[in-house]
Amino acid sequence: MFQYEKALAEKEVRLIFPGAIYSVSDGGIQVHIDHDKYNINDLLKLTYFKSIEWDGHEELTYQALKEASCPKVGAQKKQSTRYGAHGLHEYKGKFNPQIVSSIINLCGIKQGDKILEPFCGSGTTLYEAMLNGISSDGFDYNPLACFLSNAKVSSFRISGSELLKYAEAVLLYCEENSHNIVIENDERSEYLSRWLDIKYLKIFECLLKTASKMIDDDHIRNVFLSICSNNIREYSLQEPADLRIRRRSSPYPDIDVLTKIKKSIAEVALSIDAIKKIQQNKNIEINTNSHNIDIRDKKGLVNYHGYDAAITSPPYATALPYIDTQRLSLIWLGLATPKEVKLLENSLIGSRELTKKEEKILREELKENKNQIKDELHELCNDMLTSLGSEDGFRRQAMPFIVYRYFSDMQRMFKNVFSMLNSNGSFALVVGHNQTTLGGKLFDLDTPTYLKMIAEENGFTSVDDIKLDVYKRYDLHKANSINSERLLILRKKD
Ligand SMILES: C[S@@+](CC[C@H](N)C(=O)[O-])C[C@H]1O[C@@H](n2cnc3c(N)ncnc32)[C@H](O)[C@@H]1O
Repeated sequence: MFQYEKALAEKEVRLIFPGAIYSVSDGGIQVHIDHDKYNINDLLKLTYFKSIEWDGHEELTYQALKEASCPKVGAQKKQSTRYGAHGLHEYKGKFNPQIVSSIINLCGIKQGDKILEPFCGSGTTLYEAMLNGISSDGFDYNPLACFLSNAKVSSFRISGSELLKYAEAVLLYCEENSHNIVIENDERSEYLSRWLDIKYLKIFECLLKTASKMIDDDHIRNVFLSICSNNIREYSLQEPADLRIRRRSSPYPDIDVLTKIKKSIAEVALSIDAIKKIQQNKNIEINTNSHNIDIRDKKGLVNYHGYDAAITSPPYATALPYIDTQRLSLIWLGLATPKEVKLLENSLIGSRELTKKEEKILREELKENKNQIKDELHELCNDMLTSLGSEDGFRRQAMPFIVYRYFSDMQRMFKNVFSMLNSNGSFALVVGHNQTTLGGKLFDLDTPTYLKMIAEENGFTSVDDIKLDVYKRYDLHKANSINSERLLILRKKD
């Protein structure tokens, strides 16, 4: 286990079982609990323990069962983060499900409670909460995020064999008929044909059309389309591993696209059946939904309230270009037009894009601190502004305004989450640092501390601040990701 996992393990135990004797040795961690005083089900909820022994019995924890349910890929022995539908689709900045499970324990969230996820991305929190019998609402401004989150939940309503049956029929049809597909003459097809070789374009269009015709169950269709979407960039003219859109220089995968999709479907089918099997006697909470709403939009959120806790990993101050690498999926699935995609990227919190017009407005706002962010943070942005030198390129020139906009947006988010939470509700955030150099001066942007300051200005108290050493959300851009992130636990003041 990593150091942070050991720390979280101990915190969970001390919180749930205050009287436990806790010892750490080379052989691992042992916890001795007077079991007359505790319910065995509470013990089985622990995230970082493999099993519980009592009176000669041994039982695997629920987390160990979930991880073991994941069909092993090769000889991989690492902790599984892709059990159930967690591995359905790649997503930038996705966090690992174990963290969610641990936060649920640390915040004392229990079955029957309702969680809010303000930046749900591909739905790790929603899906993991669902597996733990907790209902949730997620919000994301990116429609692909909502599509994928909802597809993960859908996967719980279907069986692997049904998915396989429908998928095989669609794949067979496409194998025989995709060459006959007529490509429309519209903005969408024009965009797609710029980035997909005609052979692959016809295959993906055939998959979409045939799935719409042959799969009338929305849940099965959306899981199927998510799997296809997860493969589209691999077979496109974009360099698949690149964070920005660049022309492909690497060869196409050796495996033919329909065979690859078929393989992915078989894996997902196994995973979703396996997770359902271990859930048989458990309460599953399917009352889980992702909504395509901007978390800054107070009016749009008016019907959502009464949450017991919030869990999230928000965007960084200068976020990854989330949308860029998802353009093909967004457009292929018809979730956005090519024009909308550009607007979407610019309007996400943490966006690095800044138009001249926006810069002018933000310059004024920053001067007077119109958005009333905390004085220290306002000073930091001013310091960044005065440090700029003529050698700084356009991205750096924009940095003070982008950071000011980020703080202002996060303040709006905190205010909205505050009004959506019940009193005393917890709010857990996993967030990391950024760095930037302006005019030769290094700015270490300690985003976790800044967010804590904003939260405290807006009605939250800080309960815990835990360093997650070596914790890395997979897919984070190396230059952007610093080895450590922090888990902040806040509480809404009465
Ligand atoms: C770090 S990702 C979350 C990833 C997620 N934890 C997962 O496991 O997939 C941050 C998310 O914030 C979303 N986002 C950015 N601005 C937003 C806004 N104004 N309202 C709602 N979501 C937003 C992005 O689209 C992105 O999906």
